[in-house]
Amino acid sequence: MMLPNYKEARKRVKNKYNTINYKIDKKFINNYTGKTYYIKTYGCQMNEHDSENISAMIEELGFKKVDDYNNADLVLLNTCSIRENAHNKAFGMLGRLKHLKETINKDLIIGLCGCMAQEEGVVDEILKDYKFVNFVFGTHNLHELPTIIDKAIKEEKQVIEVYSKEGDLVEGIPVKRDKDYKAYVNIIYGCDKFCTYCIVPYTRGGQRSRKKEDIIEEVKQLVADGYKEVTLLGQNVNAYGKDLYKDYGLGELLEDVSKTNIERVRFMTSHPWDFTDNMIDVIAKYKNIMPSIHLPIQSGSNKILKLMGRRYTQESYLDLFNKIKEKIPNVSISTDIIVGFPNETEEDFRKTLEVVEYCKFDNAFTFIYSPRENTPAAKLKDIVTQEEKEERLQRLNTIVNKYFLEKNKKLVGKEVLVLTEGVSDKKNMYYGYTDTNKLINFTGKNISRGDIVTVKIDDAKTWSLDGHVK
Ligand code: SAH
Ligand code: SF4
Ligand code: F3S
Repeated sequence: MMLPNYKEARKRVKNKYNTINYKIDKKFINNYTGKTYYIKTYGCQMNEHDSENISAMIEELGFKKVDDYNNADLVLLNTCSIRENAHNKAFGMLGRLKHLKETINKDLIIGLCGCMAQEEGVVDEILKDYKFVNFVFGTHNLHELPTIIDKAIKEEKQVIEVYSKEGDLVEGIPVKRDKDYKAYVNIIYGCDKFCTYCIVPYTRGGQRSRKKEDIIEEVKQLVADGYKEVTLLGQNVNAYGKDLYKDYGLGELLEDVSKTNIERVRFMTSHPWDFTDNMIDVIAKYKNIMPSIHLPIQSGSNKILKLMGRRYTQESYLDLFNKIKEKIPNVSISTDIIVGFPNETEEDFRKTLEVVEYCKFDNAFTFIYSPRENTPAAKLKDIVTQEEKEERLQRLNTIVNKYFLEKNKKLVGKEVLVLTEGVSDKKNMYYGYTDTNKLINFTGKNISRGDIVTVKIDDAKTWSLDGHVK
């Protein structure tokens, strides 16, 4: 048994990892043919992509995917720790699975992985009160999944294998991609920023970049397989290369990925602190790098930004924002905002509103601050009430929504390029995303999933556009 340990998770050792290749022990292959699995994913794109790897590994064992957990022999929850409600959702699901195991399917195998598995408190709780959970593994040993599942099925007692240190970077893990026209590509794992509210540096470990050759090779293969779009993933993609190379960062990588001639390149998430002029120039220069940047501000108050450990000020954020707007024509900028950080005053909050009024973001994900186990911010005393926080969130949302609509309305009558995703159930219209990452429903004829089409915009809503193919 290996349990998570925050002290270990906090340590950072520079350049102490190797790249190794994934290998499955032949004795596991197709060992469980005839069995079924269900996987539920919470959290960010990195977790979604991990689930694509996990699915492929489980299928190597012979399991077949089902869409209803009631019909599964094995259920795996790939969890997220970022806020309390992500936690609650996963524990709620565990409650339902417990019931299923007690009543209908007593042989059900239940596993938990992802970020919550890296939390000391969660694993303590599972050991104590969730004995029906068969196995737990963390974010650093995804590649050991075949061994872990095999052990969990054969052994009576709980299998808990969570490493707190990141270990080697593993290449060549098989992948069962959800989509056949757009794909996630990891470029950097972990995070060394340690924003004071955030649990990710503890659950995902130290910052580790993949070798540029491995990334380019993966993208080239995706192009050969007919993929139209890649999203380069990392908690802070702007730090790409810093741990590996002297003169090769995200700007250079974007340039090389663009040259594979994949039709669309996206990347996320960008920390404003590491955003270089070279990156902006490269995004502006290459047509297949999408003019869409996610640039989380979190707060507009310098006092709060400092307490958050974000390493920029309102002024430097706005300088960067203006520079990006100036250099990249038609760029869309989206953001993340936290309200109710400990002791955020009305005046601090107004500074956030001030920035929102100025930036008129194309999209914004807004959250109430949620204290996370073991993070520095969770130790701060807080006098702001939950009601006040909720009221601030509502005020903020009213303003951000106003600007989404205003921005979208400006697009009416314009033509945009859209990557078609399919036909929406509700509207019986095609849907897809514009180059600036806006959702659009549209009419047209003989269009297939993955086609990039020119759409004229007829109508604007707060969260989507309507149009028709020219
Ligand atoms: N690496 C990205 C953020 C990833 S987490 C970045 O630094 O920009 C996604 C978003 O969740 C964050 O941008 C933040 O707005 C929000 N978030 C993270 N921790 C949170 C917490 N403890 N409470 C509320 N929101 C949080
Ligand atoms: Fe969390 Fe900050 Fe790292 Fe983003 S940059 S993952 S908010 S610690
Ligand atoms: Fe959640 Fe972990 Fe992603 S905490 S947001 S799943 S990195």
